[in-house]
Order: sequence, then C-alpha cells, then structure tokens
Amino acid sequence: MGILDKHAVLEKNATLLLVGSLLVVTVGGIVEIAPLFYLQNTIEDVEGMRPYSPLELQGRDIYIREGCYVCHSQMIRPMRDEVERYGHYSLAAESQYDRPFQWGSKRTGPDLARVGGRYSDEWQVDHLANPQSVVPESIMPKYGYLLDRPIEPKYIREVMEANAIVGVPYSEEQLANAEADWLAQADPDGENSDVDALLARYPKAQVRNFDAQPGITEMDALVAYLQMLGTLVDFSTFTPDASR
Ligand code: HEC
Repeated sequence: MGILDKHAVLEKNATLLLVGSLLVVTVGGIVEIAPLFYLQNTIEDVEGMRPYSPLELQGRDIYIREGCYVCHSQMIRPMRDEVERYGHYSLAAESQYDRPFQWGSKRTGPDLARVGGRYSDEWQVDHLANPQSVVPESIMPKYGYLLDRPIEPKYIREVMEANAIVGVPYSEEQLANAEADWLAQADPDGENSDVDALLARYPKAQVRNFDAQPGITEMDALVAYLQMLGTLVDFSTFTPDASR
C-alpha cells in the first residue's frame, strides 16, 4: 500500500479524519503556545524606551480622536522597501507603552512610526492646517482648527493614572508632577517651568512652543507627539538580543 492509499483510509473515514486533525492541531498548538509560558517577557527591553510625557500623551489622544490611524500606520515591517523608505523596522518595545497600539491596518498616507524630526515644526503645522499647501496632490484632510483650541493640563494626571492601571509604569513622581511637566514641555520659558526635572523624568523630551502661537493649543500637543515618534531608541547603538 503506497502512502497515498494509506491517506485514503483517513479521507474515507470521517471519525478517523476528525481524530487525526485534532491530533495535528494539538501538537501544533503546543509547539506554538507552550514556549510563551517559559519566557519571562516576550518583549525585549530596549534602551531609551520610556512612557510618554504628559504633553506627548495628550497629543497622542488627539491623534486617536482625529482618526489619524485610519490613514496612517505606525509599524515599519522588516522588509527592504519599508526599511529603505522609513528607517529601521519597528521593535515590539517601541509600542510597549501604547494603549491602544497604533500599528494600523491601512496606509492611505505614509507610515508615521519614525516621522519624529523628519520635518520642522513649521512644516508640521502648515501641513496639518492645510496639507495641500505643502504637498499639492495630498488627499489628507485639513486640521487647522487644532490651532484654535486651547488646552489645559487639568485632567492629564487622571489620563496617566488610567494608563498606569492598564500597565504603563508611571512612577508616583511622574504622576505627582503631571501638570508641571506638561507646562514645562510646552512653555519652557514659563515662570515655574523646571525643564531639567522634566528631562530627568522623560529623557529626550523635546521642549518648545511647537505651534509658534501664544498659548498652548491642541496643535502644540499633536506636534509634540509627532516630533517624538521613533526618536527614543538610538539605532546607531542598538543590537537585537539574539537569545530570544
Ligand atoms: C484621509 C486619509 C488621511 C488622514 C485621516 C490623515 N492623513 Fe496624514 N497623510 C495622508 C496622505 C495621503 C499623506 C501623504 C501626502 C501628504 O504629505 O500630505 C499624509 C501625510 C502625512 C504626514 C507626512 C508624513 C511623511 O512622512 O511625509 C504626516 C506627519 C501626517 N500625514 C499626519 C497626520 C495626522 C497627525 C493626522 C490626524 C490629525 C492625519 N495625518 C490624518 C492621509 C491622511
């Protein structure tokens, strides 16, 4: 009896086929799932990653509210064309503080995982207010109204606490200084702004008036968020941990 004939026995007997299929799925499942119980952590620690600063976090909330993820992904796949266009492929650790993550499933516009620092603040503001003014063929909607919406750090501590509940490791100190850090980042020359303390709590945080207008607006927070995307990990020194 050839191997195909042997297989025909399985194919002609429904019960045997069911038992056989179950066996295959069980073995496959164990091979895939069991190792996860023995790994301490499936995300490798990567130097430079930290939770979002209060202002960045608020910008991120505006990004989500405006549905930017509908057209933009934040995940660079490890394929040559993507890496050449956008930079180093995304690491799991780079979205470990994202609740919810912003990987996205559709790219009407480019991936934004490493857009931080690619353009000036001025470009970002002009582009958000009127994308066609800088990219004439753009189909991106206009978000100029963000410039007219002042914001306050009134609830930012609560937002951070909510993130902490679901696992973002904000320290007591970071929570206690939520408002102060928010102000220091958007208005570093302000009377009570302690930029050094902010940078100690959030290394590499960028501090300035992002939208170049007096007052702090939703545009400031959104641009602060865009300008930090992909800037925390230093890829000139990063080496993947091959032991995992
Ligand atoms: C309807 C789809 C759509 C939506 C919604 C959208 N964008 Fe875009 N975006 C695009 C397209 C298309 C481009 C490429 C053309 C251009 O630069 O305008 C783009 C480009 C960009 C760029 C430049 C990226 C680069 O590498 O050149 C940034 C930054 C950006 N969008 C941010 C945002 C933000 C922030 C939001 C939400 C407030 C948003 N977009 C919402 C479609 C969209």
